[in-house]
Amino acid sequence: MKNKNKYIPIPIVIGIFGIFFLIVGCSINDSEQNTANNSAVENHPNKDSELALLMRKVYTDTDSIKQLIVNDKGTISKEYIEIVERIHTAIPTDASVKTPEFKAYTELMVNEANALFSNEQNKKEGFNNLVDRCVQCHQSFCPGPIKKINKLRIN
Ligand code: HEC
Repeated sequence: MKNKNKYIPIPIVIGIFGIFFLIVGCSINDSEQNTANNSAVENHPNKDSELALLMRKVYTDTDSIKQLIVNDKGTISKEYIEIVERIHTAIPTDASVKTPEFKAYTELMVNEANALFSNEQNKKEGFNNLVDRCVQCHQSFCPGPIKKINKLRIN
């Protein structure tokens, strides 16, 4: 007795796996963030790419700048801008993200950081523009952390 329903069309199988890897590859970041131990690395072997490590640093540094601006104690630094420029060369988990579009988003990000550096008038707005740049690139290349990045915004 042959049962046709046993066979799932191949494109659907590929689609399901594709979505699965997309999710695993780029969105299990929130929960993992605080458990920087070896078991987490084993479960997500790709999480420690050069770009991923850089991004974690960028995230904490951006949060520090937010605190400086909110408390009127300072603003973005040249050091921060240099770190952001490293996005150009850092090796990502998925090599295919290094497209001309990715390069353009990195440049926009660096420009926005420079704009904030010279913006004495409205640091809050300049900072939120910077966070927008993070989110724009993430919409195209890594949607997982967007919710978390949006929390950086100064209200
Ligand atoms: C030019 C594109 C781009 C820009 C701009 C960008 N990101 Fe990312 N981000 C990525 C990509 C791609 C990854 C996935 C890295 C990997 O897995 O190799 C990532 C990963 C992350 C992660 C997860 C790191 C982890 O634990 O695996 C966080 C958090 C993050 N980015 C925050 C930020 C913040 C905050 C900004 C802005 C200050 C920012 N990103 C700007 C492309 C970008």
